[in-house]
Amino acid sequence: MYSPNDTIQIALIGAGGMGQGDTRLATSIPGVKLVAACDCYDGRLTRMKEAYGPDTFATRDYHEIVARKDIDAVIIATPDHWHSRISVDCLNAGKHVYCEKPMVHAIEEGQSIIDAQSKSGKVFQVGSQYRSSLAYTKAREFFEQNAIGKLNSVEAWLDRNSAIGAWEYSIPRDANTKTCDWNQFQGNAPKHPWDPARFFRWRNYRDYGTGVAGDLFVHLLTGLHTVTNSLGPTRIFATGGIRYWKDRDVPDVMLAVLDYPDSEAHPAFNVMLRVNFKSGLPRESFGVKFIGSEGVMTADFKGVSLDKLPQTDEFDYTIKSFAEETQKTLTAAWNAKHLSPESRIQQGSGEYLDTSANEPQLEHHKNFYRSIREGQPLIEDPTFGLRAAAPALLTNESLFQRKIMTWDPKKLAQGSV
Ligand SMILES: NC(=O)c1ccc[n+]([C@@H]2O[C@H](COP(=O)([O-])OP(=O)(O)OC[C@H]3O[C@@H](n4cnc5c(N)ncnc54)[C@H](O)[C@@H]3O)[C@@H](O)[C@H]2O)c1
Repeated sequence: MYSPNDTIQIALIGAGGMGQGDTRLATSIPGVKLVAACDCYDGRLTRMKEAYGPDTFATRDYHEIVARKDIDAVIIATPDHWHSRISVDCLNAGKHVYCEKPMVHAIEEGQSIIDAQSKSGKVFQVGSQYRSSLAYTKAREFFEQNAIGKLNSVEAWLDRNSAIGAWEYSIPRDANTKTCDWNQFQGNAPKHPWDPARFFRWRNYRDYGTGVAGDLFVHLLTGLHTVTNSLGPTRIFATGGIRYWKDRDVPDVMLAVLDYPDSEAHPAFNVMLRVNFKSGLPRESFGVKFIGSEGVMTADFKGVSLDKLPQTDEFDYTIKSFAEETQKTLTAAWNAKHLSPESRIQQGSGEYLDTSANEPQLEHHKNFYRSIREGQPLIEDPTFGLRAAAPALLTNESLFQRKIMTWDPKKLAQGSV
């Protein structure tokens, strides 16, 4: 345990877009200091020294970070195929880990992280920051208050309409085999000759990334599990294709349907997920819509809205053709069956909570350091991380194998339902 005056010294492993963003937020928290950075492209190590000072220790090989005793915690923001291996090595060396989502590149890797975390007793936070968002926190409160009645289905989408949204990232002019450590980048992935597109646009290739599934569906499932307290789906089906952005082996349009079983937290419901990289306007759109028997709730980038369905108009239109006394009897019977006294009061009332001032990513990092320093309960442990990542990755398997996939969210195992 650290005293309030102790500085927590951190290192960044994978100093690209997200890693540098994570580090900026982490080091804005009092008592957190970056001392080292690791990356396979020299230009990013130079950038880290520019931002954090020339004394920042810089290396291409993460083992040099693992070996340093002065590093208490690491942020891992490499491509997905490195997440589990570096996480396990860092946990085994006694370091706390903040690992970007998706926690794993393949489902089988999940248990090794759970075991290493439990053996080490170190804090392991998965970086799906929307779990710390106010929009989901509020949506969970509504859900727990039964504000939408019985949950029937969920529709979630994350659409994009730009080259960057489709992972067509910039390739620097000096990218070559001297400035980029291609071996270190590839690791255990299948070997290919040097290819700057594979290096800088790795999300487009299954060897390193997880496509729409692990990059974006995982955010939607994290939100869904946060709000409903669900452990996960049991049946998963997906389809899609490479429609517009062709320079890849993962789809740029993907649709998935998932079955969530009855549980203590909720009745059985169905989920539809969608990602489309040529989706029309607006440039980016994100939402998770919870559809219940008595209302609809939607969480998005800006907040959460709650609309109660007007249930009084639901009678058969023939009712007015009956005698008045019959109309009254039928109306009373319908109300007693369908409307709780609470829902009658709230009917039609729209509620909207603007959460745009909330910074989920900063909150997520704050929780990580409070957990290290004060033992505050962690928001996103590896078991939660695997329960979000595994069904997301199974949407890929469903699409690639053209099969319905099964998952046991309690046992964290495939195919036993
Ligand atoms: N939570 C979020 O909202 C969010 C957003 C973006 C990215 N991410 C995740 O962050 C991770 C990084 O994504 P990015 O957009 O920053 O990618 P990026 O390509 O910008 O950065 C990845 C960096 O990792 C480096 N790298 C590769 N292999 C390495 C190794 N063995 N050791 C050290 N460095 C290595 C690369 O050289 C590159 O600089 C991904 O897993 C991604 O899914 C999360």
